[in-house]
Amino acid sequence: MRIKTFEEYQTAYQQSVDDPEGFWAEIGQQFKWRKPWKKVLSWDFNEANVKWYEGGEMNITENALDRHLEERGDQVALIWEPNDPDDEAVSITYRVLHDRVCRFANVLKKHGVKKGDRVCIYLPMVPELTVAVLACARIGAVHSVVFGGFSAKSIADRINDSACTMVITSDGAFRGNKVIPMKETVDTALDQCSTVKSVIVMTRTRTPVSMLKGRDLWWEEEVKHVDSICPAEPMDAEDTLFILYTSGSTGKPKGVVHTCGGYMIFATYTFANVFQYEPGEIHFCTADIGWITGHSYIVYGPLCYGATSVVFEGVPTYPDAGRLWQIVAKHKVNILYTAPTAIRSLMSFGLHFVKDHDLSSLTKLGSVGEPINEEAWQWFKQNIGGSHCPLVDTWWQTETGGIMISPLAGITPEKPTYATLPLPGIQPVLVDENGKEIEGNGVSGNLCIKFPWPGIIRTTYGDHERCKQTYFSTYPGMYFTGDGCLRDEDGYYRITGRVDDVLNVSGHRIGTAEVENAINMHLGVVESAVVGYPHDIKGQGIYAYIITESKPDDAEMFRKDILATVSRIIGPIAKPDKIQFVSGLPKTRSGKIMRRILRKISEGEMNNLGDTSTLLDPAVVEEIKKGAL
Ligand code: PRX
Repeated sequence: MRIKTFEEYQTAYQQSVDDPEGFWAEIGQQFKWRKPWKKVLSWDFNEANVKWYEGGEMNITENALDRHLEERGDQVALIWEPNDPDDEAVSITYRVLHDRVCRFANVLKKHGVKKGDRVCIYLPMVPELTVAVLACARIGAVHSVVFGGFSAKSIADRINDSACTMVITSDGAFRGNKVIPMKETVDTALDQCSTVKSVIVMTRTRTPVSMLKGRDLWWEEEVKHVDSICPAEPMDAEDTLFILYTSGSTGKPKGVVHTCGGYMIFATYTFANVFQYEPGEIHFCTADIGWITGHSYIVYGPLCYGATSVVFEGVPTYPDAGRLWQIVAKHKVNILYTAPTAIRSLMSFGLHFVKDHDLSSLTKLGSVGEPINEEAWQWFKQNIGGSHCPLVDTWWQTETGGIMISPLAGITPEKPTYATLPLPGIQPVLVDENGKEIEGNGVSGNLCIKFPWPGIIRTTYGDHERCKQTYFSTYPGMYFTGDGCLRDEDGYYRITGRVDDVLNVSGHRIGTAEVENAINMHLGVVESAVVGYPHDIKGQGIYAYIITESKPDDAEMFRKDILATVSRIIGPIAKPDKIQFVSGLPKTRSGKIMRRILRKISEGEMNNLGDTSTLLDPAVVEEIKKGAL
């Protein structure tokens, strides 16, 4: 499965374009199947229909766990590093993980969860999160992991959208020096959900929680009374494995659906190749399992490839800004995969937090989630990687299931800030506004992918039309990523950022419409417009222009109240960094907000606003410019 040289990469790439089915069939054969597939690929981008390995029967947990038992049952699968560095880390072997997953799968079954049922998981980064995810997969239940930073309302929206019948959570979570109530938040969410029949609560902080008779169950009690044998449910390659909600430019977050076979193969193949994983290496991805990066590169990719994966409960700045480096030294981490925001933030604390830690175990570095600026790239490469570790800037999305454009560590010649070249099987194209392909090098345009790959989104849960509209209709016949991109003279790709109304704040994807809706729910707010602006640490910050019914008596307090509303409606990650009260917004005569102008003002480019002649009331722009923050 692994490519070892640049020539091999070139050959594999060519083969994947000339004979995609042959290429992916060969890789597919390296996994454990109960029944072979009948057809490698069938697809129709116009209808947003893609199927891989049709008719094949398998279970991803047999690939992630059972398959390894004979050869590496006693090898560590997960290393859990708790929030507090003084607490003991826990190592879980493949055999123990298999046992725990089977037990918990039996708990799920005992409480009526069946193949195809949706289960919402709202847990901190504890080993039980991985166990819960794999237990769902074991019995064919569809997991929908919700990131621990989301509000009760966001949880409720996600539970209701996919009619989850069970929630798995904890009493509380430790995050830095905070204790976060998890069960209480779930309880509030469940006031608005009628489909949930049971809640399993794992003990982490032993925060007092209400436990409702007939609905709520303690994890620790439940696992005592079940068998450790649980045969894996046979799954069709195209059965749903999980739903993961993500933000778009309009409406509520959508449930991205991934299926069993294609996702497994793509996550594993990309893990093995991008990171050039060598047996015995320790892989540390700092993402949360609540995001796709955690799904693919903490859980499924590494475990299906038989790797050792670190799960870190805490935050990079607790107890101090040396925490990640301390973890690298402590567990002799070889591969460190993190986000530009974390790098920029840790850079700002200074090198003395790095110097005390022995980072010599590192062999490879990775970056994901947002464009990485040259300064952060160089700092990471030199100060963390000692200039000798390959650094892979990996571009991909929740919808792609796995890494799409990236160097293969130590194989593809690097270029700072460039995701470089597409992985085998990935056919990127740049298109202009009219959907015409822009050929040649030294060009930029909107990034599309013109041929399916096994990890591609299959649908948006409960609304296939939305999937078609969002990804396959802007440029007919192609998957549209929503990203702008340039291809340099060497044919190297550099992602420049979203071209739609989606923000990328600290690597978190947030729709401007979502934030506006939340702000508009606040008493006294008439209308709002949200744009992103360049932020030194977060990449993008959130700038909100808000029209209020009357001038607030205490503007500062009003701002804080709005932040509280956004936290309650979405979660703290969506809180605006800047709020400017305005009396009007720049609108066209047809009533459309001209965000381009607001974006320029938020960037401080006051004198470069472009054509404002189509505005209904150009005077409003002058007022906004004067009050800009
Ligand atoms: O804009 C791109 C940016 O993150 C978006 C996808 O966000 P999400 O679905 O949350 O997945 C993040 C983790 C895979 C993309 O549309 N993005 C992701 N990786 C990069 C990136 N932008 C530039 N460079 C990257 N390496």
